[in-house]
Amino acid sequence: MKLKDKVALVTGGARGIGAAIALQLAREGAKIVISDIAPEEAAKAAMKSIIDVGSECKYFQADVSSFSDAQKTVDFVLSNHSTLDIMVNNAGITRDNLILRMSEKDWDDVLRINLKSVFNFSKAVVKPMMNQRSGKIINIASVVGIMGNAGQANYVASKAGVIGLTKTLAKEFAGRNIQVNAVAPGFIETEMTAKLNQAQKDAILNLVPLKKMGKPEDVAKTVAFLASSDADYLTGQVICVDGGMIM
Ligand SMILES: NC(=O)c1ccc[n+]([C@@H]2O[C@H](COP(=O)([O-])OP(=O)(O)OC[C@H]3O[C@@H](n4cnc5c(N)ncnc54)[C@H](O)[C@@H]3O)[C@@H](O)[C@H]2O)c1
Repeated sequence: MKLKDKVALVTGGARGIGAAIALQLAREGAKIVISDIAPEEAAKAAMKSIIDVGSECKYFQADVSSFSDAQKTVDFVLSNHSTLDIMVNNAGITRDNLILRMSEKDWDDVLRINLKSVFNFSKAVVKPMMNQRSGKIINIASVVGIMGNAGQANYVASKAGVIGLTKTLAKEFAGRNIQVNAVAPGFIETEMTAKLNQAQKDAILNLVPLKKMGKPEDVAKTVAFLASSDADYLTGQVICVDGGMIM
């Protein structure tokens, strides 16, 4: 129970990697607030699993791309709990296409939801974290933000931006005892990757030395480590959870 009595906010926590992160943090003793653009109904299974492991879970519907929604979400957490110790910026989307066919809307939507969201929530949480003199911010990036990927210009740019933002926030808040790190998943089994056809999956698996897709739990366990005091001397780092795709 490394996170006993800590309070964690997970964006995009209704399903997939976010739901697995919320559950893992709960298993370690944290009280959870899930936020997602989907209505609370969509998070029912995720919330039940958290309650089943003996923790608390509250829900706040919000669009991560809106700063005002981010502020309202953080205010909601603080009106229910006295602290906000762990912020996980997980919500993200893909709108893949070759750049010649990529619409301006698909570029803007991905940058707003994947990158501006991290600015929004980080800005909203650092004040309470500074007041409580501690905090952990964990951003979910992607290995493609490091290696590039044809057909994902918007997504890659957003995730490379998340990595740059992570390092900058780590430097700005190191003196305040707020650690900011990123986890870069590789190829993980969720609804996001279920959209890929078998040929696309085989091509990606060829790049994975461990020759299998990761599970949301693999990412969640790394996030739980970064959220704990075991990671107090880590900041500005990007940990790839990718079966060895990048080394
Ligand atoms: N699945 C993978 O292989 C993989 C690999 C690398 C990185 N990632 C990253 O992990 C994170 C989670 O991905 P996933 O695979 O679980 O995806 P997913 O599509 O299964 O879940 C994403 C969640 O984010 C929510 N969401 C979408 N737009 C939102 C918005 N505007 N505001 C609030 N919530 C919003 C969705 O409702 C959903 O619950 C994303 O940032 C993704 O880029 C995933």
